[in-house]
Order: sequence, then structure tokens, then C-alpha cells
Amino acid sequence: MHKKRLFYTLLILSLVLIFAGCAGKSEKSKEEAKENKESKIETITPGVLTVGSDVAFPPFEFEDEKTQEIVGFDVDLIKEIGKRIGLQVKIQPAAFDTIIQALNAKKFDCVVSAMTITDERKQQVDFSDPYIDSNQSLAVKSGSPIKSIEDLKGRIVGVQRGTTGELKAQEIKEKYGIKEIKSYDDTLMAFEDLKAGRIDAVINDYPVTAYLVKKDPFFEIVAEIPTGEKYGIAVRKDSKALLEAINKALADMKKDGTYEKIYKKWFGNQ
Ligand code: ARG
Repeated sequence: MHKKRLFYTLLILSLVLIFAGCAGKSEKSKEEAKENKESKIETITPGVLTVGSDVAFPPFEFEDEKTQEIVGFDVDLIKEIGKRIGLQVKIQPAAFDTIIQALNAKKFDCVVSAMTITDERKQQVDFSDPYIDSNQSLAVKSGSPIKSIEDLKGRIVGVQRGTTGELKAQEIKEKYGIKEIKSYDDTLMAFEDLKAGRIDAVINDYPVTAYLVKKDPFFEIVAEIPTGEKYGIAVRKDSKALLEAINKALADMKKDGTYEKIYKKWFGNQ
């Protein structure tokens, strides 16, 4: 009789212990999973992906004349990525020239700004997988005597400060006898000065200049300068989880046709 009671007592006791153990364990792993999910993609404002961009670069990022909204290929791309990684996207306009420093100073979580992946930039930030190809271009006033890079002798060339276009202009300056390189805070200002006759040509990313030329026949492209550039999304070097999530979303979007849809929306009839 005593033995039986002892047996039951022990049985109940061990059952209680097992249950307590299980409950505790599942609580713990639930918490772990939650923590993982939250800390995996840490952003400066929880739940929000703050995106730095110089928004004077159509059709990648620019202000819609009618709605004043910031729109473009990059904007659609990052909004879709945000949706897929569970973050609300907020575009934070910024100067391109200092955008990498601002990213590293935690002003935003990433930069989506038609930014070319370069070895020099890779020392300061990490880039996503490339999402589009680009070259440089030489644009002039339609009918200008400048027909190619060879005609830039003694001319003033406009570029955007801090860009690969500026680097290209500096690289060819001596060889082609360019008189002066004028650097602007944004690309649209360079085109304004080209229109006003203050400069003779603009060296800038081909797809952007092609878009501007199409909208305004005052300008024409006289040369495509092959540079084989690729744009990437930049993140701080401490944002490995964010980078992984961005790359996964990008790859998924390429697979399921979403990337193509966005591409066609902005470049479809070119
Ligand atoms: N692709 C060029 C670069 O990385 C120009 C980018 C300029 N982007 C912009 N949103 N203004 O230097």
C-alpha cells in the first residue's frame, strides 16, 4: 500500500516536472524566435526602413511634378523589398555627395540612389547584389558642334558632385583637353546650366540622361561612354541581416516577375 502511494506520488511529480519543462522550453524558444526576428533586421526606427536618396535623378528617384510625391524605379523597388521584409519604407532625401557618410552616421538604414557599386565605396559600405546596369553618356544642346568626346577640347563639362560621372570626366580631362569640370549638387542643376548655355556638355549616367533627353528635345546624347556600371543598394557594414534580407527579396522579385514589372513600368518603352 505504501509502495503504491509512493509510486503514484513519484509519477505525478515527474509528470508535473515534465510538463513544466516543456512549457518553459516552448516559451523560451518562442521568445528566441521573436527576438531573432526583431533583432535580425534592426532599423533606426523600429518597423521602418529609412532610405537615403538624392531624389533628383529620374527615372530612378524624383519628385512627381503633379503629386509632389517621390517616385521612380528605385522607389518602387525598395518599397516592394520593404513589403517583403516587413518594414515600412520612408524615403529620406539627401545630398548624393555625402550620402555614404550620412549612412554610416546612421541617418538612414540603407541608400537606394542609383548608386554604382565601386571598389572604393565597398571599403566604406556593403552593397546588395547588383540590380541594374548602366553606362555614362555625353549630352549636349541639340545641334551643338560637339559630336563626340573628341570635341570636348576647350569646353566646360558639367557633372554631379561625388558621382562616377564626375570621376569619368576627371579621368578624360587631360586627354581630351577639357577646359573645366563644373560639379553640381544635383544632376538636374547641371542640365539647367546646359540649357542656359553656361556649360557645353554633361557627363551623367546614361539611363537618366536618356530619360531627360526624351522629355526635352533641347538636349541630345552624342555618345555613350561604356563604363559597365552596376547599381546596388548600400547598407552599413554592420547590417548583415538587412543585407541578406534585401538580397533575398531582390532574388525572389526577379524570380516571380515583380522586378520585370517594375522595370517595364519605368523603362518599358525605351
Ligand atoms: N551612378 C552614379 C554614381 O553612383 C550616379 C548616381 C547619382 N544618384 C542620384 N540619385 N543622384 O555615382
